[in-house]
Amino acid sequence: MSENRQIVSSATHQGELILSIVQNEIPTPNDEEVIVKMEAAPINPSDMFPMLTFADYSKGKLMVDDQQQKMVAPISEQYLDAIRSRLDQILPVGNEGAGRVIAAGTNAKHLGGKLVSLVSGQCYQQFVKVPAAMCLAHKEDTTAAEAASSFVNPITALCFIETLKTEGHKAMVHTAAASNLGQMLLKLCLQENIELICIIRSVEQAELLRTLGAKYIINSMDEDFKEQLVDAMTETSATLAFDAIGGGRMADTLLSSMEHALSRNASGLNTYGSEQHKQVYIYGRLARGPITLGQNYGMYWGAGGWLVTPVLKKLGLRRAAELQARVVNEIKTTFASHITGDLSLLEAIDPVHIARYLPKKTGEKYLIKPQKGL
Ligand SMILES: NC(=O)c1ccc[n+]([C@@H]2O[C@H](COP(=O)([O-])OP(=O)(O)OC[C@H]3O[C@@H](n4cnc5c(N)ncnc54)[C@H](OP(=O)(O)O)[C@@H]3O)[C@@H](O)[C@H]2O)c1
Repeated sequence: MSENRQIVSSATHQGELILSIVQNEIPTPNDEEVIVKMEAAPINPSDMFPMLTFADYSKGKLMVDDQQQKMVAPISEQYLDAIRSRLDQILPVGNEGAGRVIAAGTNAKHLGGKLVSLVSGQCYQQFVKVPAAMCLAHKEDTTAAEAASSFVNPITALCFIETLKTEGHKAMVHTAAASNLGQMLLKLCLQENIELICIIRSVEQAELLRTLGAKYIINSMDEDFKEQLVDAMTETSATLAFDAIGGGRMADTLLSSMEHALSRNASGLNTYGSEQHKQVYIYGRLARGPITLGQNYGMYWGAGGWLVTPVLKKLGLRRAAELQARVVNEIKTTFASHITGDLSLLEAIDPVHIARYLPKKTGEKYLIKPQKGL
């Protein structure tokens, strides 16, 4: 077999990010494994930090010759401590993707030739070796581009609903709600009759969600944003919020608005606030600054991180399989991702293209096509 090309990321203690394409042998599968010829892998926000860390890619230099294909960019010294645990290591990148199984171990023959999606943490390469149990087989009329985003956003959206049900909330709030994930969540909530308050930050995003059927859309740039939010929370009894923004005061605004809605009709001494638990989960860091909380939520509240993998693990194998089956069946509808462009491995490490995908703009999702341009 020919060689395998792979993007790897290394941050050095001298303050350099080196994003390079390395060549290695295509591995052979053991009895339980398959080799997938990768056709498409999305660049999600959760891929960007492992790939680029705090590097200033605008000062990045692409070096391509017979010996090497790499991009080197500076990382300011102030950030090195925060990424100490990864310094000087060479790390694979690319959480998820899809492709065809080209070799299968003795106990994985049922996947031979199939289009599968997978989560491996090293999908930005031409050939991935992965346990068969980690693969999700897709239908024959599904394309690799469609199947590539089968886990990170679809399963997260589904797990938000699992969290809502498990914790006994009636309705929820979502920030950065016009995101790829936000659109999936909206479709799911409409199907399941769950009231969803969508917080966005532009008129265009509001229009996009309106066309998808959203009832509660609130623009955080509006002067009366907080009043609108309290009104919507009063109407829906939302006591749960998923916040992708992270940095700044959004979590505080969500909690204080919930408390405001719940204690609207309170009278007399209200020392400990409403007795209903209010919960904000910060599940993204679209804004990287400190998270600022206030003090106006009474005593029944929580704020914390939320990650899809442990939530899915807690649900158990059977429920996880049910959610995955739903993704396979609805990959062209509920879980469809709008793709803006395709990048080869080399294009993906080029600062010119990094400038296109790094801003994480609404409706702009890029796929790496590891077989492109060979
Ligand atoms: N914790 C988990 O398990 C988990 C799992 C999956 C995804 N995630 C997170 O989910 C989020 C959405 O992912 P995605 O792939 O759906 O994103 P996406 O399609 O790339 O969309 C990103 C959205 O965020 C908005 N945005 C960016 N920076 C913002 C800011 N500072 N304040 C408010 N809005 C901002 C963008 O709006 P503009 O066009 O206005 O910039 C855009 O609508 C990401 O943060 C990702 O890390 C977390």
